[in-house]
Amino acid sequence: MDKFVIKGGRPLTGSIPASGSKNSALPALAAALLTAEPVILRRIPAVRDIRTMQRLLIDIGSTVEVTPDYVRLDTREITSPEAPYELVKTMRASSLVLGPLAARAGRARVSLPGGCAIGARPIDLHIAGLEALGARINQSHGYVEAEAPGGLRGARIHFDKITVTGTEDLMMAATLASGETVLENAAQEPEVKDLADLLTKMGAKIEGAGTSTIRIEGVKKLGGADHTIIGDRIEAGTFLVAGAITNGDLTVTDCPVEHLGALIVKLRQAGVEVTEDGSSLRVRVSGPVRSVDITTEEYPGFATDLQAQYMALMTQAEGIAIVTETIFENRFMHAQELARMGANIRLDGRRAIVAGPRELTGAGVIASDLRASASLVLAGLAAHGETVIDRVYHIDRGYERIEEKLARAGAEIERVD
Ligand code: EPZ
Repeated sequence: MDKFVIKGGRPLTGSIPASGSKNSALPALAAALLTAEPVILRRIPAVRDIRTMQRLLIDIGSTVEVTPDYVRLDTREITSPEAPYELVKTMRASSLVLGPLAARAGRARVSLPGGCAIGARPIDLHIAGLEALGARINQSHGYVEAEAPGGLRGARIHFDKITVTGTEDLMMAATLASGETVLENAAQEPEVKDLADLLTKMGAKIEGAGTSTIRIEGVKKLGGADHTIIGDRIEAGTFLVAGAITNGDLTVTDCPVEHLGALIVKLRQAGVEVTEDGSSLRVRVSGPVRSVDITTEEYPGFATDLQAQYMALMTQAEGIAIVTETIFENRFMHAQELARMGANIRLDGRRAIVAGPRELTGAGVIASDLRASASLVLAGLAAHGETVIDRVYHIDRGYERIEEKLARAGAEIERVD
């Protein structure tokens, strides 16, 4: 199993390009199931979760051609409308095929995702939404089966809780339902808007994506499309924090600047200089970083997927920072590992109280989930001495060759088998 070995203490300089968004690519790949015509997707990041989704689509009946410039999907026929436990247990986003399969094939059998390191994360809102669209739902043996032999029909769906993939799943299903669907209290994440842009290119009728109310007028069938997905705001945000925590001078290029508003505001409040230049963001630190509180929220609030990275930065900041996590009930696994490196963090339910600055020293640490592992890499870059991060397969799920990108900016980081 791979590990990262990091020798810390070097300021990052130069520039790092952002990749395409993992959380935009996953629903976009699933959307190809909605049409019998080819869909071409560009800027798809080469990360493990994408490969898992591609394998799932092949099992379902798609032909998947991967080239350096694009991924071409062709699903003339859905031969097996199923997402098996073996795949879903490795990536819960597999449940994004539920809506497209029910809409296109009139039947879907998808394994329920089960627990996750960061929280319970049920898909009850996906299932309730499909039921509202007229599907007959049966749950047994760890699977949910949705049947709609006569096709889905439009409905008004109010989400009790804002859910990103729930919004995406039901938006996709509604594109082929008869009549109008209204999604209320929908997620407004940029990835939802990007998916709607792709679906619209495929011939779907969607209004209001990116707002809390989305209207979808169903159509008989969808066509193919050629779509370039958006840049990865979470990967880009991770690199911005890497530049700040190492007192560096780092520019992130091809960056979705407009999707990083909440992080930019907090970095500036903390005394980090952030300069926007077209699709580039440059961070520089010229004085002590100050402690600033954050509360994670749905977009456009502070992203929960940047909470762990931001906490690592606050261990180096002057003062007390309170980090409040409102989206997931168990997303502080990184705090104990940061404490092993010398950080002063006290957990109090959904709040973490971070006292700084504390010198971090290199240590052996274990990654527990994707973003927690990113925060350990950042801490290792700032620490004195050597840090060894175990289970980096977590980070490979969502970061494309992160060690190469960081090394290009001067980091001393190595992947060892
Ligand atoms: C998406 O997950 C992202 N994943 C997550 O990124 C991200 O953390 C999350 O949105 C929040 O921004 C992808 O886009 C593939 P939710 P998702 O449904 O859609 C509860 C990363 O690091 N809920 O918006 O699964 C749920 O338990 C990953 O890249 C229900 O109760 O998250 C949570 O508390 C991690 N019932 C809250 O809603 C449901 O049916 C928000 O979850 C659905 C969700």
